[in-house]
Amino acid sequence: MDITTSVESPDDLLAALRQRLGPQAVLIGAEVPARNCNDWSATLPRTPLAVVRPTDAAGVSEAIATCRKAHLPFVPQGGLTGLCGGAAPEAGWVAISLERMVGIEEIDRACATMTVKAGTPLEAIQKAADDAGFFFPLDLGSRGSCAIGGNLSTNAGGNRVIRYGMTRELVLGLEVVLPDGTVITSLNKLLKNNAGYDLKHLFIGSEGTLGIITRVVLRLFPKPRSTMAALCGLKDYAAVVALLDAARGGLGPLLSAFEVMWPDYWEVITTRAGVRAPVGAGHGCYVLIEAQGTDESIDAPRFQSWLEAVMERGELADAAVAQSLAQVKAFWAVRDICADFGQVLGPHIAYDIGLAVARMDEFVTRCKTALAADIAGCESVYYGHIGDGNLHLVAWVKDLPVERQPKETMDAIIYGLVREIGGSVSAEHGIGTLKKQWLGHARSEAEIALMRTLKNALDPDHLLNPGKVI
Ligand code: FAD
Ligand code: LAC
Ligand code: ZN
Repeated sequence: MDITTSVESPDDLLAALRQRLGPQAVLIGAEVPARNCNDWSATLPRTPLAVVRPTDAAGVSEAIATCRKAHLPFVPQGGLTGLCGGAAPEAGWVAISLERMVGIEEIDRACATMTVKAGTPLEAIQKAADDAGFFFPLDLGSRGSCAIGGNLSTNAGGNRVIRYGMTRELVLGLEVVLPDGTVITSLNKLLKNNAGYDLKHLFIGSEGTLGIITRVVLRLFPKPRSTMAALCGLKDYAAVVALLDAARGGLGPLLSAFEVMWPDYWEVITTRAGVRAPVGAGHGCYVLIEAQGTDESIDAPRFQSWLEAVMERGELADAAVAQSLAQVKAFWAVRDICADFGQVLGPHIAYDIGLAVARMDEFVTRCKTALAADIAGCESVYYGHIGDGNLHLVAWVKDLPVERQPKETMDAIIYGLVREIGGSVSAEHGIGTLKKQWLGHARSEAEIALMRTLKNALDPDHLLNPGKVI
């Protein structure tokens, strides 16, 4: 008997995949676009062997079958706005990009749900919800570029967590392709469904290490009919904590954002980024409060009188109240401008820390002092979603390129303090590769061991996004 075995090379297998999925779906070698070589974080770009861009779950499954046959690691990519290297490929990997899996499949008015393809940009989802008379509350500075599959995979937080929770709270169902190519269609629309394990939560927040999400059922909310905002100057952080307490009590369910900026942030944005802020300098802390309601004629006066009462009690040094939606947007620009820090500050390292609200200022003071003392020329600025216990900080040494920034020393100082104070090394951006070394500062050995058990159960060959998170 004549037995011939053919060992197909990765190039042959990828070419065959291109035959099946079409020329737009598989880009190989020199065709690989630069954008697929990195995410938004400051890692060095690496060119994958190929980028596969399927249009449905079956295409993702075929792509995975090819990668498995060729023993090629593969990484899911959404909008590539992730800040910790999660979607970054290594040389020789295959990137499976969701960029052609875009569109709203259904809005179910009675269930108040929207079913979308996983590559759909967040902003398109917000707009589609708005056009249909609903509200989709997830909102991040990267809204125009990030994709909903990426938002699920990072369990993104953003600006309205204080009222609506993180992405996890906004998802009812999903479709996911497992690392062995099996498609699990679990497009649940029921708010209550306790039939066994709630599998979606395995994939939400797992940063593309357990499966590739291809479709999502999202919760929709009533469209706010009124939006109020105030930018406030306060004498110190103790006043910020008192204001948060007053806002929770006085605005109740209307409170939709509570963002805090320290004086170093204010100085950078007003002097270096050219922002014209509606509140003057010289305060101990700055707070952007937003409230959303259902009736402008009731909510706006209620917001105004709550703010006046707080001022009369002496808890606020200064406050500007937005008089129109355009002014609300202008107030948010003061907070969103940090997206331009790359141009404003030059190369820097960004952090995303979870801390108890009460200990936030202690962290800021100790961190700023330690960074300046231990690293010559190190500057840092502090801001974040403080109502959610989430602090952002960026640190840099002027005129050093990103690869020469003393990241390891910064990491050791910052995450050492996080561990001492009992916080998290990532509140909302995730671990990816950049924070992997520090996972043990926020999770116990037993927790990490269970994460490994889950990874080994679903991806025993470690071909899906290997080396990320754990
Ligand atoms: P990507 O960067 O493409 O991927 C992120 C991770 O998810 C990777 O590990 C990737 O492998 C995986 N992944 C992507 N798509 C899929 C999929 N379909 N299935 C499985 N895995 C997948 N984040 C916040 O939480 N809050 C903020 O306020 C916030 N603000 C930001 C502001 C700016 C200016 C920028 C640049 C980023 C900000 N981010 C914020 C970070 C980032 O936008 C979020 O993490 C976002 O959710 C990433 O979505 P993405 O589509 O860009 O994902
Ligand atoms: C923000 C990003 C950095 O909140 O998470 O601006
Ligand atoms: Zn944030």
